[in-house]
Amino acid sequence: MCGIIGAVTKSAIEPVLEGLGRLEYRGYDSSGISILSNNEIQTIKAEGKLSKLKQRLSVQPIDGDCCIGHTRWATHGRANVTNAHPHQCGQVSVVHNGIIENYLNLKQQLIQWGHHFNSSTDSEVIPHLINHYLAQKMRQEEAIEKAISQLKGSYALGILINGASNNLYAIKQDSPLVISQGNSGAYMASDAMALGADSGKVYYPKDNELIKLNANEIKSCSRSINKKIHFINNKQCTKIVSKGDHSSFMEKEIFEQVDLLKRLSVNNHTSEYSIINFKDLNKITIIACGTSYYAASVAKSWFEKYANISVEIDIASEYRYRSPIVMDNELAIFVSQSGETADTLAALRYAKSKKAQTLALVNVVNSSIARESNFTFEIYAGPEIGVASTKAFTCQLAIFYKMALEAAKQRSFLKETELADLSNNFVQLPYIMEKILQRCSAMKKMAKKLSNYKNILFLGRGMLTPIAQEGALKLKEISYIHAEAYAAGELKHGPIALLDEQMPVLVIAPKNTLTDKLLSNIKEVQARNAPLFIIGDKSIKEHINLQDDEFFELPLIPESILPVISVIPMQLLALYSAQTLGKNVDQPRNLAKSVTVE
Ligand code: M6R
Repeated sequence: MCGIIGAVTKSAIEPVLEGLGRLEYRGYDSSGISILSNNEIQTIKAEGKLSKLKQRLSVQPIDGDCCIGHTRWATHGRANVTNAHPHQCGQVSVVHNGIIENYLNLKQQLIQWGHHFNSSTDSEVIPHLINHYLAQKMRQEEAIEKAISQLKGSYALGILINGASNNLYAIKQDSPLVISQGNSGAYMASDAMALGADSGKVYYPKDNELIKLNANEIKSCSRSINKKIHFINNKQCTKIVSKGDHSSFMEKEIFEQVDLLKRLSVNNHTSEYSIINFKDLNKITIIACGTSYYAASVAKSWFEKYANISVEIDIASEYRYRSPIVMDNELAIFVSQSGETADTLAALRYAKSKKAQTLALVNVVNSSIARESNFTFEIYAGPEIGVASTKAFTCQLAIFYKMALEAAKQRSFLKETELADLSNNFVQLPYIMEKILQRCSAMKKMAKKLSNYKNILFLGRGMLTPIAQEGALKLKEISYIHAEAYAAGELKHGPIALLDEQMPVLVIAPKNTLTDKLLSNIKEVQARNAPLFIIGDKSIKEHINLQDDEFFELPLIPESILPVISVIPMQLLALYSAQTLGKNVDQPRNLAKSVTVE
């Protein structure tokens, strides 16, 4: 993953540090900058969060007008200062996002040529290679292109070369990169959100298009052919997002969901989705990772139940290597908050190569997945900063719900009155959600009790199985409590062997057509002395004796919108459990917001 940024402007360190703050969602194992000052490259790095780097810079201030920066999510080599970027060799300093797959061979070759390496990263071979070709008297562009031609893998690079003029170069393959022209400078970054206010115009370079940025111009200069760059307006929000009165971005984003859903339900017409011809579709395939995959699982039930369309769902990292069959008239939907997830992007490219119609459901509209798909639908969640996805999930569900209703309409599968009821449920949704959030203190009590355990099983049924999975994912991501989820009917096929006094089970048991079946599963758990936690209908309490901190009541909720509502207590439970355990909920260990490596 990692975030990279570069600036050619007066006091270039300022936009670079500001941008690194916005890129920290891509990794925060270490950070560093290189700056050209007085004809010399100075590099400062620090292990851990960006605040550590800022501390170092406050005691050792440096400045210049050409700067690159990096925030790291470790792949090759431990998270320490030596492995932090930028990596430098002679007059060349490089920041890299991606993975160089053939770095061991290249390193061996460079060592034979007399180079010495400091880090265990794959990235360090890049400045060494460029430096090697510069030493052979190649021009800067030539040396970079010669070096790049030997790399296998993915990369977005910012390259500083100390030479006659201050130049910053940028080049990419399969990793995101944006170039920007502002009023007072030129910039490059992993994404447009990282660019500050001086970034009205942006350009997304093609793979292996070398971009040269300096004080006078930005030019595309691959293979010595200079091309003019056509910038487009930057649609991305460049305002700094604050967490307001909330204790964390995650908390803010959980509570923001009511307003977002109100906004999405006001215009409860589905016509904007009518550009898709659902009538003639043979099949929909939905591909995603992590939380976005669980949104796809819920969407499958909606499309099948309300529109009678056959839906397959797949995890992107599996789909891309599975040789899946793409049918005639198949719509392949790629769900991604960031729009940059490497596995999802690769799966999209596969589906396109097999002539599927492709649709991106994204939060970041300028993202690679959005740009490469035939159609793009935005989820309108606004910037999601917490690494654990919350509001993006409910907004993905909201758009899927609208799409399923549009599909139902086009395929005339439901009666008018049924369709009207389903639309009406969507309008009620944010108000029910609001009432649940108002009872968040009850969830704090449950979290306090649950956080005493090391492991937990989550159970759900039907459309709530993906919600149990999402709840388990949230809990493990930020509290580090080991949580796994099952369709409740699967319990007896194996996981029941785990149950004892130390293995609590959390069940989502609202009032719906499967409540009685679920009650039998709950009884099975109780009979094995496993501690029970229930998020469910009050009738459950008539059958099972539970204390107040073991039960969170769900009101009567229309069945169609149950998944969107039931995830809220799950998000709160994860948040409060992590807080009880004193964890950093916005930046959990080992994770990054945008997973741009395989
Ligand atoms: O940006 P994407 O939606 O493609 O990201 C997919 C997953 O990496 C993401 O949902 C991840 O699982 C989150 N950390 C979940 O909270």
